[in-house]
Amino acid sequence: MRLPNRVALVTGASSGIGAAVAQALAADGATVVVNYPGGSPDAANVVVKTITDAGGRAIALAADVSKEDQVQAMFAETIRQFGTLHILVANAGIQQDSPFADMTLAQWQRVIDVNLTGQFLCAREAVREFLRRGPQPAMGRATGVIVHMSSVHEVIPWGGHVNYATSKGGIMQLMKSLAQELAPQKIRVNSIGPGAIKTPINTSAWSTPEAEQKLLTLIPYNRVGEPADIGGLAAWLCSDEADYITGQTIFMDGGMTLYPGFATGG
Ligand code: BGC
Repeated sequence: MRLPNRVALVTGASSGIGAAVAQALAADGATVVVNYPGGSPDAANVVVKTITDAGGRAIALAADVSKEDQVQAMFAETIRQFGTLHILVANAGIQQDSPFADMTLAQWQRVIDVNLTGQFLCAREAVREFLRRGPQPAMGRATGVIVHMSSVHEVIPWGGHVNYATSKGGIMQLMKSLAQELAPQKIRVNSIGPGAIKTPINTSAWSTPEAEQKLLTLIPYNRVGEPADIGGLAAWLCSDEADYITGQTIFMDGGMTLYPGFATGG
């Protein structure tokens, strides 16, 4: 186990990549707060049960990550129950796709609020707790670790998804600037940039054989990723094995960022 006794909070952990990250951190020994956006707790409770059935520790906490008061209440409750926090995986994210000319301000704003402002609010609360607590060498070499869930679309432009791609481009500078500012305090900050992963956010892109074949033309490695691929990377990135990595985006995309259209052309 690489994360024994660490306290980790994973946002948007009731489904998709977040659920897999929560399970992977728990399998490595972390106690995990499974954040969900509010509404029914059923899906988050399933993730908690999966973790506890496997011998791990987890609880579900609701918070809309775009709301400052809800984020602060979630961190306060985490610290009240577990004493501190060692790991934040700021994962919660949404898409509201539209041709640019038709994109409403509400679609623009909601995606920026959840994907970018939500990561700011959660990272800020995590950093405040890391600085308050200070070093705790028995819990790893870093005083605290933050992983931002970005996307290949922090570098690949994405027509029809301008709000989403803009949020991910913003996460890149949020992550790098934070990493630069906080390295002296031994706070490591990195991003994971997933490519196409089979989750509810993009079901229409892989759920029929025709759609999956079309998607695979963008993936040189010729398979669509699974949430567990990202879970494994997140657990490693949070561990001491990755202690000298900060300020980086690690793309996990089967080669989607390799300009596959140029493989035989150009
Ligand atoms: C998006 C998915 C998309 C993938 C690759 C992700 O960030 O959320 O909808 O399939 O990027 O384009």
